[in-house]
Amino acid sequence: MANICILGGGFIGRFYAESLCGRRSKDNVTVVFSRSETSVARFAADYSVPHHFTDMEAAVQHPGADLVVIALPNYQHEEAVHLCVKHKKAVLCTKPLGRNAAEALRMMQACEKAGIFAGYLEDLCYTPKFLKSLSSVKSGAIGRILWAKSRETHPGPHSDWFWDLNYAGGGAILDMGCHCVEISRNFIGKDVKPVEVMCWADTQVKPIDAEDHAIGLVKYENGAIGQFEVSWTFRGGMDLRDEVMGTEGTIWLNSWLRTGFEMFTSGAGDGGYVVEKAESSSGWQFPVGDEAHELGYTNMFIDMFDAFEKGHQPSETFYDGYVVNAIIDAAYKSAKTKLWEPVDLPVWRGLTGLSKPSVYQEYDQEHWFIKEEILPNGDKKVIVKKKASGEILEIETLKTK
Ligand SMILES: NC(=O)c1ccc[n+]([C@@H]2O[C@H](COP(=O)([O-])OP(=O)(O)OC[C@H]3O[C@@H](n4cnc5c(N)ncnc54)[C@H](O)[C@@H]3O)[C@@H](O)[C@H]2O)c1
Repeated sequence: MANICILGGGFIGRFYAESLCGRRSKDNVTVVFSRSETSVARFAADYSVPHHFTDMEAAVQHPGADLVVIALPNYQHEEAVHLCVKHKKAVLCTKPLGRNAAEALRMMQACEKAGIFAGYLEDLCYTPKFLKSLSSVKSGAIGRILWAKSRETHPGPHSDWFWDLNYAGGGAILDMGCHCVEISRNFIGKDVKPVEVMCWADTQVKPIDAEDHAIGLVKYENGAIGQFEVSWTFRGGMDLRDEVMGTEGTIWLNSWLRTGFEMFTSGAGDGGYVVEKAESSSGWQFPVGDEAHELGYTNMFIDMFDAFEKGHQPSETFYDGYVVNAIIDAAYKSAKTKLWEPVDLPVWRGLTGLSKPSVYQEYDQEHWFIKEEILPNGDKKVIVKKKASGEILEIETLKTK
């Protein structure tokens, strides 16, 4: 059982509280901090939290909590982590870990030096669909992963600070690309080094200094490619989709707009909340049965608290948050230079010296295999390449019926 202090009583703080104590759970939220007395008192009342503060340090050091969950705007993550280090409290931090890799690396190193437990709250790497897909990938069902694409787009975030480059540290790439990058990393293999990034980013609609739309490619040392597509200008709700392509299979995931739950309403009723980032409460709706679970929060906290209690690392660590930040830093650089930019990883703990596997698969002693297909007339074609000359030909055409 863990006693938890939540820093930040906004959008994500409430989702976290909902997952932690909004249902039968042995973990308790015992302390909460937020900026304003009104909002922190309301949060405490909503979730029966016994202690609430408008002073962050007072909340962190409160003896009633042994683990701190950071649900604050991006520019406050580092300060909050250093307070946890100072008071030797285990810490879980929401995404993105830092506004950039330098901040994230400092947070990781401070926790490691102090010997405190630290987990990275990357919920979208814990959704039921993601976990099942990842176990298929790990079992080899999809073969060698060649491309892992992740898309998160919606009409833009819900608080002022997200839109301010100084507070947020970036626009849609940092806010949502951090999810996409970590999803692709998991599918490709977290021990495979990301080497360089090419990114297009633009501010197409909103009057802000950051980008509101971007697409990026992340090249990995084993030849695999990750792709992120992010936007704060997408209309129609929140689009969360992933695609994985491997030598032996494919996975398509749709986590939000089409989850198998579709509903039409004329708009009758109270016209209230439908689902995160829904743009309308009339017409065709795509509700989600259990948002906290479908977004991964429940599984995420189970992993975090199990790891905390058993003294091992969770699946998503501050190290992962730092690698994600480093990839995103390279994306921002590439968007400016219009070149492939290297991923700068002063600390790398994965594999090194990988290369792209050979594309040559033997058909027989004289030929490399390219493709085999059964045609509408039942013939089977095998397309091969001659080892000696490089000539490409159809070696066999057999009637199979
Ligand atoms: N899927 C996810 O994991 C997910 C989703 C949304 C947000 N987040 C992350 O959670 C963090 C918070 O986002 P949010 O959506 O909850 O934002 P929010 O604006 O809804 O809430 C932020 C909270 O921090 C408080 N706050 C704001 N500025 C402050 C300041 N200067 N000093 C003290 N407190 C301050 C606010 O009062 C509020 O309680 C961000 O890092 C964001 O990226 C993660």
